[in-house]
Amino acid sequence: MKKSGYFITFIFIVILLVIGFWIVTNISNSNNNVKEVKQLENPKTLIVYYSRTGNTKAVAELIQQKVGGELVQIETATPRPSNYRQEVNQNEQEQDDNVLPELKTKINNFDSYDRVFVGTPTWNMALPQAVVSFLEDYNFSGKTVIPFNTNGGYGVGATFAQIKDGVKGANVLKGFSVKGGEETNGILLAIKGNKKVEVSKEIDEWLKDINQK
Ligand SMILES: Cc1cc2nc3c(=O)[nH]c(=O)nc-3n(C[C@H](O)[C@H](O)[C@H](O)COP(=O)(O)O)c2cc1C
Repeated sequence: MKKSGYFITFIFIVILLVIGFWIVTNISNSNNNVKEVKQLENPKTLIVYYSRTGNTKAVAELIQQKVGGELVQIETATPRPSNYRQEVNQNEQEQDDNVLPELKTKINNFDSYDRVFVGTPTWNMALPQAVVSFLEDYNFSGKTVIPFNTNGGYGVGATFAQIKDGVKGANVLKGFSVKGGEETNGILLAIKGNKKVEVSKEIDEWLKDINQK
């Protein structure tokens, strides 16, 4: 064979290798994409909440009916005061002193969840310290975190900002907040009956807005 013949054969082989390489990488990339889409469509979901008088719990249950997943209530190792005034005082003291109450609730398989809804009432315009304990106890890096809140009419206060701060490395989506009870005025569980139906519709709109199902 002439020199030029070897050269053309060489170029031909190089072109075949480049095309072969391109096909292999593209097929494996498209397989990865399929995996990613599947994961987003069916994320393993945890709905965790703290609730004294049942309002945040009611919202948590509605969310679970819509998106599935596991529902877990945050409970402290030492029971909290049942008297409202006593709880207000104890909570304020704990917030001031940055006391983190030990939790009875333990989530063994926390790492296996892709998406964590975190529900909390507003206490003294901030998180109850038990929720701060929960955020401290787990590693949220790489997860999607979705906050929700009930309050006595004064809004989320610092709760959503504290959650965002406490879940370093997570992708935090827009939270949902609704007025719940007013224990000061003797209204404990407010999210029931017609109000619950209304809240359910608001949750539907919110989930659509943040593209979660
Ligand atoms: C100790 C304590 C402090 C509270 N502080 C606030 C507050 O600062 N702002 C507010 O809007 N509501 C406040 N509330 C009212 C609760 O946020 C509201 O009733 C909420 O819906 C309770 O949720 P739960 O029923 O899940 O416990 C407080 C309630 C308690 C018990």
